[in-house]
Amino acid sequence: MARKRLAVVNFGCQMNKYDAERIVGLMAREDYDLTENARDADLIVLNTCAIREKSEQKVFSHLGRLRELKEKNPGTQIAVCGCVAQRAGSGISERMPIVDVVCGTDNIEKLPDLLRQAGEEQRSVVDVSVDASFDEPSVIQRQTEYAAFVSIIKGCNHRCTYCIVPLTRGAERSRPSRLIIEEVKQLAANGYKEVTLIGQNVNSYGHDLPGERSFPALLEQVAAVSGMARVRFVTSHPADFSEALMETIARSETLCKQLHLPVQSGSDRILRRMDRGYTAAEYLAKVRRMRALVAEMAFSTDLIVGFPGETDDDFQRTVALVEEVEYDSFFLFKYSPRPLTPAASMPDQVSETKKKERFDTLQRLQQGIQVKRNARYEGRIETVLVEGPSKKDAAKLTSRTASNKVVNFVGDLSLKGKLVPVEIVRAGLYSFEGRLAAHSS
Ligand code: 5AD
Ligand code: SF4
Repeated sequence: MARKRLAVVNFGCQMNKYDAERIVGLMAREDYDLTENARDADLIVLNTCAIREKSEQKVFSHLGRLRELKEKNPGTQIAVCGCVAQRAGSGISERMPIVDVVCGTDNIEKLPDLLRQAGEEQRSVVDVSVDASFDEPSVIQRQTEYAAFVSIIKGCNHRCTYCIVPLTRGAERSRPSRLIIEEVKQLAANGYKEVTLIGQNVNSYGHDLPGERSFPALLEQVAAVSGMARVRFVTSHPADFSEALMETIARSETLCKQLHLPVQSGSDRILRRMDRGYTAAEYLAKVRRMRALVAEMAFSTDLIVGFPGETDDDFQRTVALVEEVEYDSFFLFKYSPRPLTPAASMPDQVSETKKKERFDTLQRLQQGIQVKRNARYEGRIETVLVEGPSKKDAAKLTSRTASNKVVNFVGDLSLKGKLVPVEIVRAGLYSFEGRLAAHSS
């Protein structure tokens, strides 16, 4: 029988990209191959994100555009997975009857059965039930052969007052370290050079499993896997970012000297209203301590502007914190009220005009900082992991440094997946130009 075609539309974070790799793997076992083109797909999966209102709106406008396609090809199945599926459940198929399956974040393994059921019964099928354990992936079809995501913990026990994630991804559930190490060893054996351990809050790793190792101990074990050259992890909650973890990062050659440490705001008053569990001074003390251990540490962060009640004074404190830390990069968000989160019903919402003004101010500030931070790289030789042809210039390869900077340089495609030394010739705002330096392989 001819193989069928699957199109995956991805919205959102690393966790979603990883879930998409699971979906592709599961559907490959059901005779589906990935296609770029939704028009000839037998199955279209929307892997959705609910973190901000805009991300959720994108899902519904995308579904609106698929209506016509479904009318032309009624046999094409449409599935909605991810955080919007988990949050809105049957509300999605009621609003959009073209949807065959709504599959929640804990039910990815069931997707093939749900699709079969929807086909046989000719109706929309919804499964957003929650699983009290870590649902072990049975198969993952990864997008690349050199860098892989490995999920170590799901869910989040924090209750930041703006955040919908605890409602869509549930409580923390760690994956047994034995299975994580086995997977990383297998990846190394298959030639992978880099793993990124992922979870909503990796620092909580192990707390829910009696007798399980802590996150620093897990990291140490992963970093020791022979052949795995680079280990990264996201996301770290600053309140749980411990001295033990800092020392582990400093000790290991394999652990990349790059850290994503979302601060959200530089004002203690706002941090309290967000229920983040740290003050700006405590956050800065951790950054300083980490830099005392590793001077070159590249920090990145997430920031929200216009959280309810944020005054000009609060915002100036965020500006001051950004100036002090000098991040290598940041993700900046305008506060977006999310259903059923405490901040959504706080009375003193900030106007869109103010949000935009503050967003632009921080963006400009960060650009200046980034240019300065990046300029330090010019003339250095950096080891980069080659990802493949550059999207902007097919004559060049694109690659990343251990500190996660993008470097483009002229080189042979056979270098894909390899670690090579490159001299940084010019450092721009978002990427560097490099020149392949002499190397032995
Ligand atoms: N509005 C704006 N940004 C948000 N984030 C999470 N929830 C919201 C929200 N309601 C941001 C935070 C988080 C990142 C993943 O998304 O900065 O760290
Ligand atoms: Fe959301 Fe806070 Fe948990 Fe991050 S730590 S997922 S922002 S509740």
